[in-house]
Amino acid sequence: MEKIIDENIQGQSLVLDPKKGNQRKLFIESYGCQMNFSDSEIVASILAKEGFNTTQNLEDADLVLVNTCSIREKAELTVRKRLEKYNAVKKINPGMKVGVLGCMAERLKSKFLEEEKIVDLVVGPDAYKDLPNLIEEVDAGRNAVNVILSKEETYGDISPVRLQSNGVSAFVSITRGCDNMCTFCVVPFTRGRERSRDPQSIIKEIDELVDKNFKEITLLGQNVDSYLWYGGGLKKDFDKASDFQKATAVNFAKLLDMVALKYPKLRLRFTTSNPQDMTLDVIEVMAKHQNICKYIHLPIQSGSDRILKEMNRLHTRQEYFDLIDNIKRIIPNCAISQDIITGFPTETEKDHQDTLSLMEYVKYDYGFMFAYSERPGTLAERKMDDDVPEEVKKRRLAEIIALQRKHSEHRHRAFIGQTLEVLIEKESKKSDAHWSGRTTQNTVAVFPKENYQIGDFVMVHIDDCTSATLLGKAVGIAP
Ligand code: SAH
Ligand code: F3S
Repeated sequence: MEKIIDENIQGQSLVLDPKKGNQRKLFIESYGCQMNFSDSEIVASILAKEGFNTTQNLEDADLVLVNTCSIREKAELTVRKRLEKYNAVKKINPGMKVGVLGCMAERLKSKFLEEEKIVDLVVGPDAYKDLPNLIEEVDAGRNAVNVILSKEETYGDISPVRLQSNGVSAFVSITRGCDNMCTFCVVPFTRGRERSRDPQSIIKEIDELVDKNFKEITLLGQNVDSYLWYGGGLKKDFDKASDFQKATAVNFAKLLDMVALKYPKLRLRFTTSNPQDMTLDVIEVMAKHQNICKYIHLPIQSGSDRILKEMNRLHTRQEYFDLIDNIKRIIPNCAISQDIITGFPTETEKDHQDTLSLMEYVKYDYGFMFAYSERPGTLAERKMDDDVPEEVKKRRLAEIIALQRKHSEHRHRAFIGQTLEVLIEKESKKSDAHWSGRTTQNTVAVFPKENYQIGDFVMVHIDDCTSATLLGKAVGIAP
């Protein structure tokens, strides 16, 4: 069959099926975690084969898809606001169809169709391969819903279309779902049980990225350290696997080692690590390979043992300190970042002080901090009162953010005077005369462009910083 290569899709060549034509325009946008952005690239790939070409222009779209997030109430409100905007555009372009993808689709299911009259299509995170059929339904004038969660789907056979890519860094998802059941978290309900992707399909995707000259990849999962491939199937069924499957299973340390060895020139990152699942092997593999970035995102949520227990985080404060000590012993220059929730039900002032003192111990390079948002259906919502007043949550959050800012600045100051390797990713937001890139520690560095190019690894002498950014001057291409 003759293939048509369309160069129009944000710089990425797409193979379109000529039978389906290349008539329709897809506008797709994503909210929430990196996994959603990665999933949208899978969706764009599935729909490219149906003759959909992506557009950046909402007004031009035949089909608008919004990949949604349910993690906090605010994330859902943001999506509802976007639906209002689509509604306004639909008045000018009545043929336009609107679909909701991702976690809100899974959480609200067909209720979405009643609540938001503008929505034609509701598709959960494991049902994207059904999109062609669902769109046929919509074309025939019927609403379509598929929110079935899967035990196997990893989209390992789909080669994602890189949307809005800088051509330098890309995400590669390695697990889907989460089995951890943190009591505050909606993800296990919206993304289903944890399953891992076949290492061969991961390698194939990385091969394609290397061919396209990508320089950095981030292995992605809700809980990457829990990665386990034993021939397919859910993580929780590993006990029932055969002796052969057990003996040949690939865990996260092995996968990381394999990828790092195979692609010595590629920078590797991964996210997210859950302290209860991170093993010393992973840290040792990181130390062994120069191309694995020295940075770990290691959410803690709370510094109080009592709250950690209520959250069903299966480690103590002391075990977390032991892990941090091991990381710093094995990789002295490793950067660490956190996620923290303030105002979880029953959190006292003493618990809050425990979080602050934990932060003092670790002195994180940076962090992502949130006020607790009660999510329908979670164990915390069913069993606990959301009893910390909003103003107390906000005050505690402000204290945590202020302390984090102090620590970030402290960590960044320590880089002044050093010459660090930076991968150039894009133009600085603040100045078109400067490049912006990241160090191995994931710290953003900004410096004059000179003759360097996006995608270059350069050595940058750091001479100043803000709480978020290192400032310096390139002194040459990295060796
Ligand atoms: N393992 C996941 C965590 C997803 S949620 C990952 O890959 O990042 C990201 C962060 O959102 C969590 O670590 C937590 O700090 C925060 N979060 C989750 N549920 C929340 C809630 N109900 N209220 C406030 N913050 C929440
Ligand atoms: Fe959520 Fe805990 Fe999993 S935060 S994504 S249930 S590790």
